[in-house]
Amino acid sequence: MGASEEAITLKIIIIGMGVIFMLSLSVIVFFIIYQRRLLAQQKKHQKIESDYQKELLETAILSQEEERSRVAKELHDEVGAMLTTTKLYFGQITPSLPEIEFEEITNKLRAFLDDMIQSVRGISQDLRPVILEKLGLIEALQSLVQTINDTGGIQINFKDNTSRIVPKPKELNLYRIVQELINNTLKHAKAKNVDIEIKHENEALVLLYKDDGIGLDHKTLLNKKGLGLKNIESRLSVLSGTMNFLKPKKGMAIRIVC
Ligand SMILES: Nc1ncnc2c1ncn2[C@@H]1O[C@H](COP(=O)(O)OP(=O)(O)OP(=O)(O)O)[C@@H](O)[C@H]1O
Ligand SMILES: [Mg+2]
Repeated sequence: MGASEEAITLKIIIIGMGVIFMLSLSVIVFFIIYQRRLLAQQKKHQKIESDYQKELLETAILSQEEERSRVAKELHDEVGAMLTTTKLYFGQITPSLPEIEFEEITNKLRAFLDDMIQSVRGISQDLRPVILEKLGLIEALQSLVQTINDTGGIQINFKDNTSRIVPKPKELNLYRIVQELINNTLKHAKAKNVDIEIKHENEALVLLYKDDGIGLDHKTLLNKKGLGLKNIESRLSVLSGTMNFLKPKKGMAIRIVC
């Protein structure tokens, strides 16, 4: 090999090494940039997730507060007012009171106490419906549906295809969810019919709810979520459940799994 050939080979080797070095460098730089982007994306997702969880928690706290102030208001306005009146009646009972008046007052007192019992029953029933406690979710839903069908304004069809008992913690949450969905249909949908089905799919409980009203597009859903839908989300997050709005030809349809 002549001296000039050696020089050429050396040049080729140097250039080759240079190319390999540049390639390795760009792979390393690319890798670092890619890792950073990935990390930034992960952080963004984590932030979205934690913001969402915070929002759910805030909704849960807000509705708890609303529930408390409602109960406080009812206790104050109804039971409190009745107790004050009862005390006034008791003040009228003196040893010298003629028997006829005594009887009149005790009759009024008895009626008042009956009203008070009704009131307290109503308040506690609202907190956890008695029928749910006594008969379980399916019969409680059947009774809820019956009450609304009896009004004649709308026809709700309820299908129970559950194959097992629904665990207690799910019962109240699902009952409240169906109550809100029906409420929304009555308030917003202008619907004539509602179909509700509840069934087991493997381990999960599935609730399908559909009305034939005006429906709601997905943009509305993103911007117009009120307390009702947020409450549903918050109840489902407690149950590790999900809700998906389906796209029916007419009306609104939702599938809830928990
Ligand atoms: N079945 C339905 N058909 C048509 N639109 C609906 C239906 N359900 C909900 N919507 C729309 O979605 C919006 C959000 O519902 P959401 O229950 O969160 O709030 P709301 O019913 O307006 O108020 P609230 O806090 O009292 O429940 C409603 O304002 C309504 O526009
Ligand atoms: Mg609502």
